[in-house]
Amino acid sequence: MDLGIDGNSALVTAGSAGLGLASAEALARDGANVAICGRDPDRLARAEAQLEAIGGGEVLAVETDITDRSAVEGFVEETVQEFGGLDHVVTSAGGPPPGSFLDTDDDDWYDAYDLLVMSAVWTTRAAHPHLVEGDGGTIVNITSGSVKEVIDDLVLSNSVRRAVIGLMKTISREFAPEVRVNAVLPGSHETSRIEELVESGVERGDFESYDAGLEQWASGIPLERVGDPSELGETVAWLSSERSSFVNGASVPVDGGSMRSA
Ligand SMILES: NC(=O)c1ccc[n+]([C@@H]2O[C@H](COP(=O)([O-])OP(=O)(O)OC[C@H]3O[C@@H](n4cnc5c(N)ncnc54)[C@H](OP(=O)(O)O)[C@@H]3O)[C@@H](O)[C@H]2O)c1
Repeated sequence: MDLGIDGNSALVTAGSAGLGLASAEALARDGANVAICGRDPDRLARAEAQLEAIGGGEVLAVETDITDRSAVEGFVEETVQEFGGLDHVVTSAGGPPPGSFLDTDDDDWYDAYDLLVMSAVWTTRAAHPHLVEGDGGTIVNITSGSVKEVIDDLVLSNSVRRAVIGLMKTISREFAPEVRVNAVLPGSHETSRIEELVESGVERGDFESYDAGLEQWASGIPLERVGDPSELGETVAWLSSERSSFVNGASVPVDGGSMRSA
């Protein structure tokens, strides 16, 4: 399917690995210019090379900590300068640390809020004037299935991410018709985030080994496997394109059917 985004410009926060990178790759495969950011310069350089190898549009990689407002604003501005505009924003982030409520202190909650919510707020605020100038701007927030069904031992993700859904739903009304805003709710996709969670399960004694842990994660999924990050990326690219032109304010699970609620 031709998404019609050839030559458009896209920015993906935390796009140097995992689901953010998979989204940037999907956008690049359809010919978009893509800007990504992350903190670790080596990881960022590897991701940049991966995106360039696709041979889509231009690629920009900017070392940025998305918990730093001025750094986020600088990333957006540099992207606009480099590409001459901005059509699509995808917000991803690292995952907050796993743990139960009694494991957390105030700093954990404020850190998770900055990472998941304020990073999206700052990106959206800086990007909005540019998105409305184009011909159909889009924002896609990568969140988690935990916004609908809580996941054990992930109190920060279960609680704080719901603010991103409230933000998405509100601005999908405020920014229309110039800009559409949607969210994707990933289930389990094999990225380093899942590796960390499985390894923490092994440490707690929940699983005998990494493979046993991964098998356990896949066992509740009707499609009987965890997802490939590209399957999430393709959905993000579709939501960023004219092919989804009447989809606005939606929370789209990409989870192999594991969510039980409708
Ligand atoms: N993978 C899944 O199955 C899954 C399922 C549900 C929800 N999610 C959520 O989806 C999001 C992405 O997950 P993922 O699996 O793609 O994670 P990942 O593979 O660990 O990648 C995280 C990315 O975020 C970047 N990052 C982390 N903190 C950052 C910061 N402060 N500033 C800038 N970049 C930062 C990392 O680069 P640097 O560390 O170099 O900065 C890396 O590029 C997370 O919020 C995760 O909890 C994932």
